[in-house]
Amino acid sequence: MTTLADDHTVIQRILDHIDNRTTDVGESSWREPVANYLSEERLAAELRVLRRFPVAFCPSASLPESGSYVARNAALTPILAVRGSDGRVRAFRNACRHRGTQVAEGAGCEKAFVCRYHGWTYGLDGALRHVPHEHGFLGLDKSERGLVPVGCVERNGLVFVSQDAPAEADGVLDGLPALLASHWRLLGSSEREVPANWKVLAEGFIEGYHIRSTHMETFYPVQFDNLNVVETFGRNSRVAYPYRAINKLRDRPPAKWSIDGKLTYVYHLFPNVMVATFPASRFVIVLEPLALDRTLLITYLLGTPTDGPNDGDVPAPGTRGLDLVDAGGVEDREVACSIQRSIASGANEFFEFGRFEAAIGHFHRMLHAAIDAESPR
Ligand code: FES
Ligand SMILES: [Fe+2]
Repeated sequence: MTTLADDHTVIQRILDHIDNRTTDVGESSWREPVANYLSEERLAAELRVLRRFPVAFCPSASLPESGSYVARNAALTPILAVRGSDGRVRAFRNACRHRGTQVAEGAGCEKAFVCRYHGWTYGLDGALRHVPHEHGFLGLDKSERGLVPVGCVERNGLVFVSQDAPAEADGVLDGLPALLASHWRLLGSSEREVPANWKVLAEGFIEGYHIRSTHMETFYPVQFDNLNVVETFGRNSRVAYPYRAINKLRDRPPAKWSIDGKLTYVYHLFPNVMVATFPASRFVIVLEPLALDRTLLITYLLGTPTDGPNDGDVPAPGTRGLDLVDAGGVEDREVACSIQRSIASGANEFFEFGRFEAAIGHFHRMLHAAIDAESPR
């Protein structure tokens, strides 16, 4: 896996771009057939990729202690991730082994999972521990009826789940950069359904060519338009969005340069997860396809306990920075929904992603390759 440049190199590249009025450009543009946003068959193939690859499910900070769990659908399959009493995170298909009721919902902390239907009880390790009136089930072997595990690995502050293969298959997670250090705490999470294709939403996160047009009143006053460092690593990418304040670093010796407050990194973790760095906060955004034209956008917000006004563990939600991110997010969703409304109009046979939008070209190239590599079913 190609390694990412260090912060110092990224900052220097940005300062050079500012001086030369340039930005990173890819070798070629990419034309993605619009049919790939409209085909049920294509979506089914994409969902199979989402189930086959290790996909970031939630930040480690969502599972701070033994018994902490997150239950939600991933690629339309109910999944439960839980931290065991041994500290390890495991993930299961969230379905009771009696008659399939989901054994947990949302997020929380439990000592065991008791099915609400008839009370079958599972340990944090998924083992079936108790069956009320067990004598009614002749020959029931409890050791064979634990929750069904799926691949799960915790890496660099994220929990990755792979439903249809061992989590580390194919070395997908090798060389993953340090994403979320252990001091980041979960401040909150939210879910929002957006009437747009998941790929249209993903594309909006990984190019800076739209900063001026789309974000005139929000990001543009503090950021540059179409001035980015774009890198790929494995199937993933990272786009650096500099703030105008980065120019202040010119007065400081390079040894004292820090990206803090000077740029936002957006990591695109293939296929459908974004990790965005902001001063004093981190966002993990999961784009769950619900249908061709509907996506569930799940956002985890992380901060550090010292971000609070009193040095306590109270988040500081009203900060200007987060308001700005929210407002920019509204604009991005409006544009994505506008694309979705015209997508079947017949106007475009393909969407053309230019050389500034190279991370999107990489995404589609990788998605095509992953689908093509599928064994025929
Ligand atoms: S379905 Fe879970 S105990 Fe019956
Ligand atoms: Fe945007």
